[in-house]
Amino acid sequence: MTREQGISGPSTGDRKSEHVRLCLEEEVAGVGVTTGFERYVFRHNALPELNFDAIDLSAEFVGRALQAPLLISSMTGGSAGTGRINERLAEAAQLRGWAMGLGSVRAAVEREDLAETFKVRHKAPDIPVIANLGAVQLNYGFGTDECRRAVEIAEADALVLHLNSLQEVFQPEGNTNFADLLPKIKRLCLELGVPVGIKEVGWGIDGETALRLAEAGIAFIDAAGAGGTSWSQVEKFRSSDRMRRTAAEAFASWGTGTADCITEIRAALPDLPLIGSGGLKNGVDAAKAIALGADLAGVGRALLGPAVDSAERAASAMEQAEFELRTVMFGIGAGSVAELKATKRLIRR
Ligand SMILES: Cc1cc2nc3c(=O)[nH]c(=O)nc-3n(C[C@H](O)[C@H](O)[C@H](O)COP(=O)(O)O)c2cc1C
Repeated sequence: MTREQGISGPSTGDRKSEHVRLCLEEEVAGVGVTTGFERYVFRHNALPELNFDAIDLSAEFVGRALQAPLLISSMTGGSAGTGRINERLAEAAQLRGWAMGLGSVRAAVEREDLAETFKVRHKAPDIPVIANLGAVQLNYGFGTDECRRAVEIAEADALVLHLNSLQEVFQPEGNTNFADLLPKIKRLCLELGVPVGIKEVGWGIDGETALRLAEAGIAFIDAAGAGGTSWSQVEKFRSSDRMRRTAAEAFASWGTGTADCITEIRAALPDLPLIGSGGLKNGVDAAKAIALGADLAGVGRALLGPAVDSAERAASAMEQAEFELRTVMFGIGAGSVAELKATKRLIRR
């Protein structure tokens, strides 16, 4: 299947397909903002006292075992083409033993005929599958029943709510009433029956916000920091409204870099399961995310192009990241993910 075919289909015009196309074809990274990982280096350990092949990458997330402490960030579903991307990502995640986030399941909650595009469990029976909805939908008619439906459709182990306030502003059709969400999130955490996590979409969650969310009962946080995909950049390409387009340009460097998000969240919440994501380019970045305090590292747009091509290409990109992560662990003498997380060999330049 060609890249064009992979993202087109009957729902070509819909927003999700358009987001995927823009993320593949345009410059959508933030400008003038970085993850902050470049400020850190690992101090080499010349005598690791480890067998490279025995380094243990295994991890656990929402009660399921992983072969590597890695997650595919929430991206697609909701149209025929993006459903195929989900299937390929799921196949690759099952093969490599990664956790997998689905893109927002809202479309399928609202239109039953789109449910198929989120049904990946048959491709990924063993890994954590995470359903996704915008937290703001709790102000637009979604309650516990709709969230439960999203989890059922995806046969998911958990639900992650995304916080995307500025994306909603830059979208002409955006839902911008973010008032009084916290009590609704708290209620959902009590009622849903599976863990409810929270993520940003590339502008980052800071320590203070993380604390408020944890107090509301959030079970895990995905930092989704700045330095990678920028949704003001993506929406800039979609907007026909001159004011929004110009404003989006002015926000190209917005957001808290991923490294700072991880450090702050971990300082505020020493024990909460934490995913470090946003702009991760390779396994060295993933290792830095974990050494800074994340339990898992998440990769988004870097896996999109490979998954548009084939499950094999996605799996191979994932294997590459694992190889680099394992090599970092060898280079610093960390034999397990717990040892990587506790290392003193990550130094601020
Ligand atoms: C094509 C595309 C679609 C996305 N859709 C969603 C989504 O539906 N829900 C969500 O929470 N995040 C979504 N994201 C955001 C990612 O999960 C991630 O937080 C963000 O892209 C930053 O990570 P990255 O720099 O590795 O891409 C999407 C990202 C991409 C590239």
